[in-house]
Amino acid sequence: DAVQRGDYAHYMLKEIHEQSQAVADTLEGRIAGGKVLTQIFGVEAEQLLAATQAVHIIACGTSYHAGLVARYWIEQLAGVPCTTEIASEYRYRDPVVREGTLFLTISQSGETADTLAALKLAKQMPYLAQLAVCNVPESSIVRESSLVLMTRAGPEIGVASTKAFTTQLVALALFALALGRVKGLDDARYADGVRQLEQLPGLIVETLKLDAEIKTLAERFTDKHHALFLGRGTHWPVAMEGALKLKEISYIHAEAYAAGELKHGPLALVDEDMPVIAVAPNDRLIDKLKSNLEEVRARGGQLYAFVDETVAHGLDAAHVVILPAAGEIAAPVISTLPLQLLSYHVAVLRGTDVDQPRNLAKSVTVE
Ligand code: G6P
Repeated sequence: DAVQRGDYAHYMLKEIHEQSQAVADTLEGRIAGGKVLTQIFGVEAEQLLAATQAVHIIACGTSYHAGLVARYWIEQLAGVPCTTEIASEYRYRDPVVREGTLFLTISQSGETADTLAALKLAKQMPYLAQLAVCNVPESSIVRESSLVLMTRAGPEIGVASTKAFTTQLVALALFALALGRVKGLDDARYADGVRQLEQLPGLIVETLKLDAEIKTLAERFTDKHHALFLGRGTHWPVAMEGALKLKEISYIHAEAYAAGELKHGPLALVDEDMPVIAVAPNDRLIDKLKSNLEEVRARGGQLYAFVDETVAHGLDAAHVVILPAAGEIAAPVISTLPLQLLSYHVAVLRGTDVDQPRNLAKSVTVE
């Protein structure tokens, strides 16, 4: 055990630091000459992508959050309608399938009972094909799917998923770009998306240098009972993933909200005891998010912002963590990293079992 963890105190920390390599491995051989190679999804992928008129994503837990990010990308880049749904809901709700819909599962283990059951159900319905984004090559979900794109995160031991999530985002970005290209995505935006993926391993290394700063920041959270995470657009699911990490391993109750929903309830909870964590890239929603954050400050909430330098300017917050600037594809990956580190350090300070949190399993193979 200690040997495999090397110098790291926990598998989770080791896996957080493996993300640059895991992302590089997931990209390896999948881009050539500035283009995503369509055949990486399977031999018939070119025709299938052309025939795809909608995408239906099914997953659980952290993988579901990756699917929620992908939904924004697929609609923004490919103009193809996409819905993302929790497997345990999908399998019991009599779903209706429109013609030309691609069924997409996301799973680290490839063995999650609900996701596998949803896939088996989908195979009896008139979907175009079933694509799996998965980390375990010989798994049941891979075997049951007609198309597969493997993430290459390597074995993930910590129950709280880290490198599996970021490599899923990379695989899903490859998919959204490949679909976008077939569906007429503009050349410059396509090329920029591919470039962002190619630069991602380096940007991850740079971002993880924030570790020491976040370790100090974590001290402010150790005695908290609740935390609120806010984001908009692709950063709403990033906020959901940040909240999930914190509750899984530190047992602090954490909730994520789309920042625009603040007024519809969670603002009532905001006071000096409620830390509010906001994640945001500098995108078209930034001014709206800033005004949401001002409402938090006006109510005495402690605001922690994870933003790039351009956004940080003039932001009134208890603490601002400056992230490297990143584009629409790279930003959700980059913003996830400090949230992983934050939950890790808070959990260590609280003395919980980081790699094996109580009551949770790495792979949920029973319903
Ligand atoms: C469990 C794990 C999570 C994971 C989820 C889905 O809850 O603790 O980390 O996200 O299952 O698992 P999968 O293997 O399908 O991605």
